[in-house]
This record gives sequence, C-alpha cells and structure tokens, in this order.
Amino acid sequence: MHTDLTQKDLKYIWHPFTQMKDYETDAPPLIIDRGEGIYIWDIDGNKYIDGISSWWVNTLGHCHPRLNAALKRQIDKIEHVLLAGFSHVPVIELAEKLIQITPPELAKVFYSDNGSTAVEVALKMAYQYWQQSNQPQKTKFIALKNSYHGDTLGSVSVGGIDVYHKLYKPLLFDIYQAEMPYPDSIETILKEHHKEIAGLIVEPLVQAAAGMLMYPTEYLTQFRKLCDKYDVLLIDDEVAMGFGRTGQMFAFEHAGIVPDIICLAKGLTAGYLPLAVTITTEQIYQAFYDDYDKFKTFFHGHSFTGNPLAASVAVENLKIFEEEKIIESLQSKIQCLKKNLEKFRNLDYVEDIRHIGMIGAVEFKENIGKNIYKEALKRGAVLRPLGKVVYFMPPYVITEEEIDRLTDIAVDAIKAALG
Ligand SMILES: Cc1ncc(COP(=O)(O)O)c(C=O)c1O
Repeated sequence: MHTDLTQKDLKYIWHPFTQMKDYETDAPPLIIDRGEGIYIWDIDGNKYIDGISSWWVNTLGHCHPRLNAALKRQIDKIEHVLLAGFSHVPVIELAEKLIQITPPELAKVFYSDNGSTAVEVALKMAYQYWQQSNQPQKTKFIALKNSYHGDTLGSVSVGGIDVYHKLYKPLLFDIYQAEMPYPDSIETILKEHHKEIAGLIVEPLVQAAAGMLMYPTEYLTQFRKLCDKYDVLLIDDEVAMGFGRTGQMFAFEHAGIVPDIICLAKGLTAGYLPLAVTITTEQIYQAFYDDYDKFKTFFHGHSFTGNPLAASVAVENLKIFEEEKIIESLQSKIQCLKKNLEKFRNLDYVEDIRHIGMIGAVEFKENIGKNIYKEALKRGAVLRPLGKVVYFMPPYVITEEEIDRLTDIAVDAIKAALG
C-alpha cells in the first residue's frame, strides 16, 4: 500500500462525480499504474478487468500496440497547432475517413475536444443555422427526460436527470422536455411549438447515464419523421454509443435514418485522448458560408480543437476498425454477453435486465451499487454502478471466456453485497 501517494491524492485532488467524503472514508483510492487489453493494474500489482471501458471510452483495449505506435510517430512531428486558419495531416485524414463511414448527407466535420463540447457545438450550430436561414424565431430545443449530454451549461440545459441537473436550473436555458413514450410527447410539443423549435437532441437508443435505459429502435425512426414533418433539426448525440457500442458503427444505423447533426467523442480515439467532432450536412454548413462582413462565421473553437496527437490515434483507430473488421467481430461477443445476463435473472432484488450490443445492465429494486463496486474490486473487476443499475460495458477486445469471468465476478459481488 503506497500510503504516501494515497495521502497526496486525498490532499490535492477533487475527483469528478465523486462525493469526496465517501472517497476519503470508504476505501483507499485505486491508483492505477498500467493497462493492457481489458486489464488495468494498480500500483500494488493488483489486476482488474476494466468492466466499464474507463468511463465508456476504451474500445480496443488499453495500450494497444498500433495506437501506441501511431501516437509515438506523431509526437516527433508536431504535438499541437491551432486549427483556426491552420490545418494538419491527421485532422484531414480523419475528417475524410469520418465522412466516408457516415451517410453521404453528412459532409462537414467540426472539431472540438470532448463529448460536452461536441454537444455545445451542435446546439450553437443548430441555433445559428436558423438565425441565418430566415427563421430566427427557431431558438428552442426539445430534449428527452432522463437524457445526459455532458456537464457544460449548454449540455446540462438539455439534460434530464434531476440528481445531476436540477440544482443548476437558474443557470440554464429553457427547453421542452419530452416524456415517455417519447414520440407521442414530442409530437404534442411540436404540434404547438414547432415554429420556435430549432432542434431535437437525443441519445440514440440508450440513455446511458440515466442507468442504461433503452428505448425501441422505432422511436429513432419516429424522431426523424417528426423532425422532417415539423422542420426541426435532429441532433444525434453518439458520444457514448458511437464506434460500435450498440453493435453497429453508429446507433442511428439500426433505424436506417440520417440525423442532421451527430456528436462523437469517447471512442473516436479508442479512449486514448480527448477529441470530439460534430458532423453535419452541406445545407447547414452553407448557412454559415458568406463574406466575412455578413457575420455568419461560426465563432466557436477550443485551444485543443483537433489536436494532432489525438487525431493521429483516431485515424489509426478507424484503420483498425476497418482492417480487423471490429464490428463483425463483435457479433458473437454480443450474443455471449446476452446469454451471460441470464445469470442475474434469479438473483434477489433484480428489477430488470437490459441488453444491446456490448452493453448489459441489471437494474435492482434498491440502490446497492456502492457495495457491489467494492465487492467487485476485491474480486478483480471494475464495475461502477449507476445508482440501482449494475452494467457491463467492456472494451471490445474482451474474449467470450472473459465475459463469462466478468459476469461471474459480478454475480459473486452482488451476492456478497446483498449479504
Ligand atoms: C451521451 C453523452 N453525451 C455527452 C457526454 C459528455 O462527454 P464528455 O464526458 O466527454 O464531456 C457523455 C458522457 O458520458 C455522454 O454519455
């Protein structure tokens, strides 16, 4: 036990999404030293399965040799350069690849540096699009109850999880919030207010942070139809689901629809480095394209927008997806995960079991998540329940045997936690 490091951590760091009093009193912090594939090791040499892909970012495993090599190659060329008026090879290659793997209607890539900023960009872009398209009254957004789009104030404004978002209400802009069943509720709102609505923003198929809540694919199809009918932009926040998590490259593919704007981050760099994109159509892009003195420029950009190191890893990530047929290779693992979820069916207090792609979730009747987290760590797995929901979201390089093992650990941890 490295008590000196533990003490310094407690003394100097304020951890995200963490009640620091619990952190201090519950268990010593897990100080990670290294990772390989689905495993991470702490500084005492204990090994854990990363059952949640390090906050849903890691797709191809930790310390992937090809991704490491891409990063090393790039660092000796240029570590960072601004993207306003400048460009560099990795962002160009990446933008081309992204446009190739998304539907033809999506034509332009706007870079930023994390999921929340990708959403901020989408909201500002949608709003400004209408300002510059002779419909300046279209200033409002519809978002879904239970949605989570990030932690900056714009993305919190379109959030719908009281525990994370309610406190900030006085700081936020007003939105219309749709309730279940979402398509009916959205139509009711649109019928009355469509003239003032700029966009509908959704997490596709899975409302992840709310506890891996899932809604039918048909809803996505309906969202597209309603947006077309009432002349509203569909913003698809694929930050958590993009790059294979649902078993397709992007979740919107399940419904065969094309959003007007998509937000990507997390898995874009296979979980290596902060990078995000907001991809949109030629039509939206054209509404900003004019002489400078018309002031239609999109005045948005972050210091580290389109960082070359991150972009070079993202390019390599997409090459691996293509060359190693990652999406195809997931299909048997998806079935294996689905089968393994049956282990939880007869445990006490289980309320619901949900599954799509490489996500499995077990919802309990009571909030027993904290104990399960601790018991799973003792048994060599990182699970970080969301309230009543224990979920699995492993890196895609997990084998079927390792899925068996991860879910076995979870069963034991749950039994121990329930006492
Ligand atoms: C759907 C969705 N959108 C946006 C975000 C925010 O991304 P970031 O944490 O990179 O800001 C998240 C993060 O979990 C997310 O799940």
